[in-house]
Amino acid sequence: MTSSGAVILSDVHVNHKHQQLDCIKPLSGYVTRFEYIIADAEVQGDHVGSDVHTDVDGDYDVKRKKIVCKDCIIIEHSLGTELKYVGLQVWQAALLLCDFILDNCNTFKGCCCLELGGGVGLASITLATLADTVFCTDVGRQILETCQNNVERNCVNEKKCKPIVRELDWFKQQHQGSEKTGDLEIAGTSNRFYWKKHELSILSRLDFIIAADVIYDNTLTEAFFNKLFEVMCGSECLKAVYIATEKRLNFTLEDLDVTCKEYDFFRACMNELASKIAKENTFKIEQIPIEFKQRFSYQRTKQLELWKIQPVKVSA
Ligand SMILES: C[S@@+](CC[C@H](N)C(=O)[O-])C[C@H]1O[C@@H](n2cnc3c(N)ncnc32)[C@H](O)[C@@H]1O
Repeated sequence: MTSSGAVILSDVHVNHKHQQLDCIKPLSGYVTRFEYIIADAEVQGDHVGSDVHTDVDGDYDVKRKKIVCKDCIIIEHSLGTELKYVGLQVWQAALLLCDFILDNCNTFKGCCCLELGGGVGLASITLATLADTVFCTDVGRQILETCQNNVERNCVNEKKCKPIVRELDWFKQQHQGSEKTGDLEIAGTSNRFYWKKHELSILSRLDFIIAADVIYDNTLTEAFFNKLFEVMCGSECLKAVYIATEKRLNFTLEDLDVTCKEYDFFRACMNELASKIAKENTFKIEQIPIEFKQRFSYQRTKQLELWKIQPVKVSA
């Protein structure tokens, strides 16, 4: 991604068919159907009588049909944005994270989760098919409203969990501000994406934190890790944090080489985290192999990575 005012278009939208919404929206205004495989199974075909062949050993060679069960998530988004609105697009790392979530349904079933930098909400909406509580957080009215529209569009089954869209700015303190009609104010103003008092207490019972494609600017990365550490320290039963990233390689004249300084900085932040102790915990960091089943359609390149951070009790 570039830091100039240039318009950036996510590969996800280059490779998916999209439709323009009827109503005119200045920054979003497009929708894409993200189909994904729930399950595929081989079933015995209805080949009988003369259609049945035998193999060299005389065993029946029964033809099998592959049945693929699919579902889809419909996401409103933008088609190309400046850097400050990249959250209005869907990024490949989010699709990798969604694949991982669906591949580990038993892990995420019934859990309480927080997404940082959730953008238009695809990963949170996917997670909501399994979890009990999902907070999808980001910053800025446009992104939060588009995310809320996507939640309303996709999470209509009352028995299932509906992600709660909330503002969580990595540069700001969430837990301060005055009370107003049950909402907590942040930075002195009020809007519907502010946290309710009881929701803040749920943050102390998080099972998982997830984030996708939040590593693209070192200042933001530093703020992200500070916020992550703060939330991790306040979550007493946190099991793991999953961060999906895309390593964006660039050739620079300065280095006369292909580099990814944002990725190097990310790895340095991870190493620093691994050397920290919070309450009685240290943090174990590992990269997760991405050979799990691909359910969404995108190019799973080796630049896509998934990382796990796990609190580990320090032995006395
Ligand atoms: C590249 S987008 C990724 C969006 C989504 N996770 C995805 O992968 O499709 C980065 C996200 O980080 C969010 N972000 C940037 N700065 C932030 C901040 N200070 N606080 C919270 N979120 C921020 C952006 O608004 C955006 O949604």
